[in-house]
Amino acid sequence: MKVVHTIQELRDHLQGQTRVSFVPTMGNLHEGHLSLMRLARQHGDPVVASIFVNRLQFGPNEDFDLYPRTLQRDIEKLEAARDVYVLFAPSEKEMYPEPQSFRIQPPDDLGDILEGEFRPGFFDGVSTVVLKLFSCVQPRVAVFGKKDYQQLMVVRNMCRQFQLPVEILAHETVRETSGLALSSRNRYLSDAERAQAPQLYACLNAVKQQVAAGANDLSEIEQQAIQLLQQQGWDVDYLALRRQRDLLKPSSEEIASGEPLVALGAARLGSTRLIDNLEL
Ligand code: PAF
Repeated sequence: MKVVHTIQELRDHLQGQTRVSFVPTMGNLHEGHLSLMRLARQHGDPVVASIFVNRLQFGPNEDFDLYPRTLQRDIEKLEAARDVYVLFAPSEKEMYPEPQSFRIQPPDDLGDILEGEFRPGFFDGVSTVVLKLFSCVQPRVAVFGKKDYQQLMVVRNMCRQFQLPVEILAHETVRETSGLALSSRNRYLSDAERAQAPQLYACLNAVKQQVAAGANDLSEIEQQAIQLLQQQGWDVDYLALRRQRDLLKPSSEEIASGEPLVALGAARLGSTRLIDNLEL
């Protein structure tokens, strides 16, 4: 695997390649990331991965400075997995040689709901860096995890509206046997919090079971789930049942008539904020 730090080196290595598949990451790689790279490899060759902790998508009180940066260990994991041909690990100066004044802004009804409501500007930052990374890598396919469900939808819509020639592939969330979704932020959890963390996924499953059993009062389903988490000691940002196609609220009729839905949640255990979701 070749590790490159500049856009020029990246372009030199990819010259003439027309089937590049791409996995953007912020590093601190775990099995979830490695499974994205495996999927990328099945759909294109060569595979390019990137590691870049993107300041633009962090709010002023978020964990940008603390975010785990583990490049050497990440390189070792990628070398061992043997799926990636080029790792692009640019510096901040390389990606943002001047203040990034042109930004992509997703539409309010997608970018300002759920995660966007609690992390203002997050999806502007994600879309902007993903567009820049796509421009550097020029992939034919790119792989994103369903764990960041709304991010996946934002990126898909951006590609569609800007008519970018990139096919976006989604990978299922990778979980521990406890149900806890793998995430770089799990490392912030204390032992006690880690033991408690699978409750978020269990709660999404409880929502799924309620809907399967015929419940169709949206706010009652959501309120019960929020209360359950709060009783267990979580500080809940949202627990929402939404339409899979656009993340808008389904009507009771839509719930009853089998509209594909997804339950999404974001909540804090201590100071660690976890997100998860479950398609129904
Ligand atoms: O999901 C992530 O790790 C990041 O949001 C991404 C897509 C790499 C953009 O910085």
